[in-house]
Amino acid sequence: MAFIEWSDDLSVKNLTIDSEHKKLVETTNKLHAAMREGKGSAVLGNILNELITYTKTHFKNEENIMRKHNYAHLETHIAEHNSFVKEVETFYEKYKSGSVAVTISLISFLKDWLVKHIQGSDKKFGLSISK
Ligand SMILES: [Fe+2]
Repeated sequence: MAFIEWSDDLSVKNLTIDSEHKKLVETTNKLHAAMREGKGSAVLGNILNELITYTKTHFKNEENIMRKHNYAHLETHIAEHNSFVKEVETFYEKYKSGSVAVTISLISFLKDWLVKHIQGSDKKFGLSISK
């Protein structure tokens, strides 16, 4: 069983956003698997970097879709995205400097944040345009 299982519960009823979310879930699962398999720091660092890069691309795409729909809660949403990126980037900087390991607490944070954000804020937007 994957660390985060994709299910219809995570769908925001927008094909583009859903497919990008699937890729985020997949990358988080890849990081989790590599950590459990005891992969080395270089491998974990690369996946973490991949996750951050893809997250930024996805957030930009999602924000552009929201912009096109004149989404009323865009600014609050962007703030949520930015604080997540900042938090994960801070962790990554510490990781690169060798002061922290990729731990279960980071992976749990990623999972909790993603699931909560997708089911809460992203779904709120998805439903507002699918009406
Ligand atoms: Fe979002």
